[in-house]
Amino acid sequence: MLQLGEEVTLYSVIFVVVLLGTRSPVWTTVLTASLYLFLALFRFPQLPAGRVQQVLHPDKGAAGSGRVSAVAHRGGGQDAPENTIAAIREASKNGATGVELDLEFSSDGVPILMHDDTVDRTTNGSGPLSQMRISDLRKLDAAAKHRLREKFIGEKIPTLEEAVEECIKLQLTIYFDVKGHPDESAAALKELYRKHPVLYNSSIVCSFEPKVIYRMRQSDPEVVTALTHRPWSLSRFGDGSPRYSSLWKHQWMTLMDFVLDLAHHHVLWKLCGISAFLIQKNFVSLDYVEYWAQRGVEVVAWTVNTKVEKEYFHELLQVNYITDSLVEDCEPHY
Ligand SMILES: *[C@@H]1O[C@H](CO)[C@@H](O)[C@H](O)[C@H]1NC(C)=O
Ligand SMILES: *[C@@H]1O[C@H](CO)[C@@H](O)[C@H](O)[C@H]1NC(C)=O
Repeated sequence: MLQLGEEVTLYSVIFVVVLLGTRSPVWTTVLTASLYLFLALFRFPQLPAGRVQQVLHPDKGAAGSGRVSAVAHRGGGQDAPENTIAAIREASKNGATGVELDLEFSSDGVPILMHDDTVDRTTNGSGPLSQMRISDLRKLDAAAKHRLREKFIGEKIPTLEEAVEECIKLQLTIYFDVKGHPDESAAALKELYRKHPVLYNSSIVCSFEPKVIYRMRQSDPEVVTALTHRPWSLSRFGDGSPRYSSLWKHQWMTLMDFVLDLAHHHVLWKLCGISAFLIQKNFVSLDYVEYWAQRGVEVVAWTVNTKVEKEYFHELLQVNYITDSLVEDCEPHY
């Protein structure tokens, strides 16, 4: 009922807006009907709740932390060099339910773990990934810029394959964060799921880009997926400061943010058939969790970095959260 009511509202709003814009009842009807048909024909169905539960709330036995999963952001960038095998081991040791890992590619097309599109921030090398072969990347020190580098000497940039094998061995759930390259990423992940079918029950593919998730489900509709969102991300940085100094540009991007937010909450989730919605923690409330629950979608919050906040998400909201550290309070790692 709720879904039906929502769809009627959605198409009514679109109808009125297009009618006001075009003043043509014929065009308005054609446009609204096309959108309806498009969604009806091209949407992916959500996956069965049982399998999604297995991924989001793995039963880790008595040693597990209960219903709520704590997921180490980039493997836990505060506790160990981000996106490395050392981080994965450290997260497991410290009781994480899972790890969030960033997928990127070397210039010769090997899937690796890296957050940025250059190696400068985390390694002792310099330059864009798009110009570095896997053999070049392997020579770099992946702990070079970390605060605990003395403890992690010799850490390398792992391939996606190595990282996944380590997670499977340690029974960690994987949240793959895919930033771009929709086609290459979908192909690489599809191959990975074929090789390690256990991932269907123990991993989720997440992206800020709906196109990435859509491509993923086109290449393998059985993969559990999530959209990632930070309201006002087009006009503002993570700390809230404006991205653009030009007032016009800022206003325009704020309007785009508004449209993107509406699209995420009313259209894109359904088109992609997502199972979870990863959202910046400040926007999560009981009502918000309920909004998504009614749509069969689970909220996951990021980045939850203090003890007090973790208790709030764990006990009150009972929402999975992504954190930079399993052991101490820290500032967010953007
Ligand atoms: C980075 O560190 C590694 C390991 O110490 C070393 O072998 C390599 O030559 C260094 N690379 C650069 C570009 O400094
Ligand atoms: C995934 O879980 C389902 C239900 O528990 C089970 O039947 C299936 O064999 C599992 N698949 C893999 C590859 O582990």
